[in-house]
Amino acid sequence: MDTPFIRSALACKALGVALWDMHIADGDPFHPDSRFTCSKELSQLLGRHCEEDYAVGYACWVGRLHLEDLQATQDAFMAHLNDRTGNTPFDVEYRMMTYNGVYRAYHSTGYALRDNDGTPLRVAGAVADVTEKRQTRTLLYELTAGIERRDSLLDEQNRRFETILNLMPFPVRVADSKMNWTFVNDTAQELFGIKREDMLGKPCDHGKFCICGTDNCSLERAKRGEMQTFFEHGGRSYQVDVKTFDIAEGESPGFIEMIHDVTSVTASARLAADTEKKQVERRADSLSAQVTEKIREILSLQNAMVSTVADLVEFRDGCTGGHIARTQLYMKAMIDGLLERGLYREEVAGWNIEHVLSSAQLHDVGKIVISDTILNKPGKLTPEEFDIMKTHVRAGIDAINRILDKTAENRFLRHARNIIGAHHERWDGAGYPQGLKGAEIPLEGRIMAIADVYDALVSWRPYKGPYTHEAAARIIEEGSLTSFDPVLIEVFKNVKGQFKKILEDCTERRPA
Ligand SMILES: [Fe+2]
Repeated sequence: MDTPFIRSALACKALGVALWDMHIADGDPFHPDSRFTCSKELSQLLGRHCEEDYAVGYACWVGRLHLEDLQATQDAFMAHLNDRTGNTPFDVEYRMMTYNGVYRAYHSTGYALRDNDGTPLRVAGAVADVTEKRQTRTLLYELTAGIERRDSLLDEQNRRFETILNLMPFPVRVADSKMNWTFVNDTAQELFGIKREDMLGKPCDHGKFCICGTDNCSLERAKRGEMQTFFEHGGRSYQVDVKTFDIAEGESPGFIEMIHDVTSVTASARLAADTEKKQVERRADSLSAQVTEKIREILSLQNAMVSTVADLVEFRDGCTGGHIARTQLYMKAMIDGLLERGLYREEVAGWNIEHVLSSAQLHDVGKIVISDTILNKPGKLTPEEFDIMKTHVRAGIDAINRILDKTAENRFLRHARNIIGAHHERWDGAGYPQGLKGAEIPLEGRIMAIADVYDALVSWRPYKGPYTHEAAARIIEEGSLTSFDPVLIEVFKNVKGQFKKILEDCTERRPA
């Protein structure tokens, strides 16, 4: 055995890597004098102590090669040896059975040393276990192939999808999860008046690629969960339906936007709606007129009944002709004065003034229970008789309460009760029947107190002659803070001219 071969064998052992070295006798690796040696690692792979059994090493390596790889490996080895230029490399991958009977993949390279004629003298090389690397490479290859196949299928599906969308007779656009347009059909190009290539890949840019406006943007609305919207363009009406579709797990969905011209539908719907609206309005007007007429009839009937009752009372109280009509007019003058000056604004705003004035006629309705003897006594009443006279207030309240018990809530009757119950109360609390004081006395009653006393003063009574307007007005004004509400007295001062006019126009006073 030559010295270099032994040195190589020792080097292989020392390196501890899968190396091999072959001495070639007469340029023939199969020559009986050819020798093969390898490092311990390769020897272990081969399952034999090849590094010590030079004769069988090469045969052992060849014997363990996978049958499918044997020919190609041997051809490559021989091609390298036989190419005297040394330009044909020995660089192969093969499967080889390991000592435990399992095939693994190896990458083997070698290089021949030659004499001057190019005859190979020896070949040395290295073997690397590339099983995992090859598996990874195979896996990568299969993955790549799979992705390419999937992309190809997706492309095909996309092409079919876009072909179908292009055939749609209405505008269709598709946006990805970033709201960039990825598809625009021919009809959409025409509607928007923008070339497809100018829209594709661009965001839904309000005003530029979107004609429905920022607030009405179909995609923005779709993101908020609204899947239908409308817009007007070029004098026509369009309905936009937006559907979302998942692009990938965890990503925002994409959108497909379909636009329908609904001008004719909208026009007929509008026409129908207008017609219906007009019919409803006509019906409402008619009903309103009927209700107004009914209310007018009821109010007229109510007023007639109230006037009749009041007349009956006044007829018995023979000395107060026209009192009820005048007090009603004085009340009106006072209320107009309040409104004009904005006094007691909140309280008056809650009134139905017609009800207040109508119910004012009933202020003395309780006199119906007072005997003619007292009612028509030609002289001043005794204290006892006056006490009886005072009961007309309670009798009036009772009468109204009896009606209220039998009817639903009725503001007319409540005004009537306030006026009846409070028209003899005094601001200083010295009145009757309850001795209410100041603002405890309902406002209607405080007003009626002024109207009632003024008319009593200017009217003829069995026990006194009529006061002049001026004298009566002075007495009323002097009653501020005692008999009467000072705020109302200020109003009275403003409207007392109207009181005088009413008195002159509406008097049936008896001669003294
Ligand atoms: Fe009275």
